[in-house]
Amino acid sequence: MNIKDFPMLQKDIIYFDNGATTLKPQQVIDKICDYYQNYSANAHRGDYDISFKVDQEYELAREKVKKFINAKEKEEIIFTSGTTESLNMIANGFFKNYLESSDEILITTSEHASNVLPWFHLQNTLGCLVKFIPLENHYVTIENVIKSITPNTKVIALAGITNVLGDERPIKEITKYAHEHNIFVVMDGAQSVPHRKTDVQDLDIDFLAFSGHKMCGPTGIGVLYGKKELLEELEPINLGGGMNESFDRPDAVYFKELPARLEAGTPHIAGAIGLGAAIDYLESIGMDNIREYENKLRKYAMEKLITIPYLDILNIESDSAIIAFNVDDIFSQDVAYYLNKYNICVRAGNHCAKILKNETGVKNSLRISFYFYNTEEEIDELIDLLKNKEKMKIEMI
Ligand code: ALA
Repeated sequence: MNIKDFPMLQKDIIYFDNGATTLKPQQVIDKICDYYQNYSANAHRGDYDISFKVDQEYELAREKVKKFINAKEKEEIIFTSGTTESLNMIANGFFKNYLESSDEILITTSEHASNVLPWFHLQNTLGCLVKFIPLENHYVTIENVIKSITPNTKVIALAGITNVLGDERPIKEITKYAHEHNIFVVMDGAQSVPHRKTDVQDLDIDFLAFSGHKMCGPTGIGVLYGKKELLEELEPINLGGGMNESFDRPDAVYFKELPARLEAGTPHIAGAIGLGAAIDYLESIGMDNIREYENKLRKYAMEKLITIPYLDILNIESDSAIIAFNVDDIFSQDVAYYLNKYNICVRAGNHCAKILKNETGVKNSLRISFYFYNTEEEIDELIDLLKNKEKMKIEMI
């Protein structure tokens, strides 16, 4: 990895908002431009050379995703617009048909809106019940998962790593127990897949959702993974071109096999190809190296942050590259705006995790989230600014 690979890092900024989206290396940008400049045709529709090249590159990207998460088959990888669309497809395309009104869905209060609202929608439309696994000091424990399960529990939907507190969940253990009790497990991988090796076969999860833009890829592309036999049962929400085999009359509509069946319309071709390039880039660094380096950055930052007495840190003990905190008596967005004056990009607010306040009692926070291109020197600059509360107050006026 070379910092020079990232055009955005040649600007005078410190980018600590990687939980929201990540920066793109030139290799990804070039790959996208190459598609638009040199073989910009549609996928799976043409009978000419450049369209064959598109088909090849698009399917190669699918193959790269398959290997990256160690899926068993290429047909288990569906390109979507992002984690949100993937989770909505899982809820509305699969569970809406599977669940009954007496069934229960387990989530937590620290899930992102994308892993709450589709389940709330099922509660509101089917009458089933969304229940919350109690957290232990913000963590999901296997004991609390077991305690929350009833004979009616049919699905557990959890983030691998949460987007505000950054806690990592024991997904493999949860899945093992869940499957022994005929419960499906859905993993929201938006904040974990970019930062950890993810092996869907080892975890044995039923469904996984993640986004390209949080892992150096383009926006507008994401992945829905599902075990093949489950995806075959997932009803397409979008019907149209590319996904049908034939149709003559309303009662004679036939869909294609996976993955085409779940990818109606012209796909985000440049996005998929760009995501493939992002995977190449991440793999050239190594996912274990990324995890290790981020842990080092987190430890370095935390050791300094805890010495600042007026900071209220929400997740001192977390496992990931995400740190959430507040400066006493100063609204989080004001602090973010102050840091912005020094070209430091952080996120402030509720981070789309609007029921987390039920757990933490804190409505808003500042969030810094690292990626492998951040440095200790950048953290030092942030700490220097945070250490001077008087200056912060004066400059905010
Ligand atoms: N889901 C993204 C975040 O947590 C946008 O910031």
